[in-house]
Amino acid sequence: MSPFLLTRTLPEDATGAALRADVLHGLTRTPKTLPPKWFYDARGSELFEEITALPEYYPTRAEREILRARAPEIASATGARTLVELGSGSSEKTHLLLAALPELASYVPVDVSESALRGAGESLAAERPGLDVHAMVADFTGGLTLPETPGPRLVAFLGGTIGNLLPAERSVFLASVRGLLAPGDALLLGTDLVKEEAVLVRAYDDAAGVTAAFNKNVLAVVNRELGADFDPDSFDHVALWDAENEWIEMRLRARSPLTVKIPELDLVVRFAAGEEVRTEVSAKFRQGRVRSELSAARLELTHWWTDTAGRFALSLATAV
Ligand code: SAH
Ligand code: AVI
Repeated sequence: MSPFLLTRTLPEDATGAALRADVLHGLTRTPKTLPPKWFYDARGSELFEEITALPEYYPTRAEREILRARAPEIASATGARTLVELGSGSSEKTHLLLAALPELASYVPVDVSESALRGAGESLAAERPGLDVHAMVADFTGGLTLPETPGPRLVAFLGGTIGNLLPAERSVFLASVRGLLAPGDALLLGTDLVKEEAVLVRAYDDAAGVTAAFNKNVLAVVNRELGADFDPDSFDHVALWDAENEWIEMRLRARSPLTVKIPELDLVVRFAAGEEVRTEVSAKFRQGRVRSELSAARLELTHWWTDTAGRFALSLATAV
C-alpha cells in the first residue's frame, strides 16, 4: 500500500463562504446564474459518474479511446515523474496514463469533491505500490500551490472540463497552469469538439433524465448548505446549443412564478414563470481555438489526437 495523503488548501469554512458569495451574486443578477462547481457534492459526483456511462454521453468514451491508443506516446513525450490531475473526479481514465508511466513517483489529484478524491485516491494508492498519492481538495481556478515532487511534471485536465469555464476564465486559468510548469513540463488537455447540434443536445438531455437530476442537484446543495427551500420539481432541465459561442448551456427553468427563501443569506429570490438560471456552459472547440488559447498563455501545442470518430481531442502542450 502506497502513502495516501489528503490536504485541504482552504479552511473548512472557505467553501461555505465561496458558496454564499456565488449564490448571492448569481441569484441577484439578471439573467440568474450559478457556477457549475457547486454540482459536485457526493451525490453530484455520483450522478456525474452515471452520466459518463449513458449512451448519449460520448465524451468519456471518446477520451478513453484516445488515452488507450496514445498513453505510450504521452509517456514517452513527457517522461513524467509527477502527474497532477485537475478536476480528477473518479480518476477512472487516469489508470490508462498510470499504466503507461511505470517511472511515475507521485500522483496529485486536485478536486473540489472530497468524496470523489477519497474514493479514487485510496484505491489508486492500494493498487500502485510505490506511488505517492497526494490528493488536494482545492479549487483549480484559485491559484494552486502544488507539493514538492520530482519532475518532469505532467498536468492533466481531462474530460473537457475546461469547457465549463467561460472564455475570460479560461484565459486566467491557462495562465495559472502555465505558472505551474517548469521547462520540460507539459499540459495534457481534453476538449470536446464542435459537432452536429442534435448529438450535442442529446448528450446533455438524456432519455433517462440523469443529466436533469445532475442539473437539479445544485438546488439540493443550496438547500442543504444555505437552508434554502428550492423545490427541484418546480424547475425544468433545459439544454441548448448556443451556435454563436459554440457552447452547450444548461439551465433550470421555473415552471410557474415562485419565491425561494435563502435564510443563510437573508435573501428572498423571485422567479417569473419561465425564468431561467444558467447553471453551466460546456464549450466545444476546434483545433484553432485550442491552439490560440494555449498560445496566449505561452503554451505550445505539440500533439493533437482525436478519437476515430473525431468527436473529442486530447492536446499535449509544453511551456514556451
Ligand atoms: N476528470 C474526470 C471528472 C470530470 S467531472 C473525467 O474526465 O471524467 C469535473 C470534475 O471537476 C468533478 O470531479 C468536479 O468536482 C471537479 N471540479 C469542477 N469545478 C472545479 C473547480 N473549480 N476546482 C476543482 N475541481 C473542480
Ligand atoms: C465535467 N464536464 C466536462 C461535463 C460536461 O460535459 O460539460 C459536465 C456535465 N454537464 C452535464 N453533463 C456533464
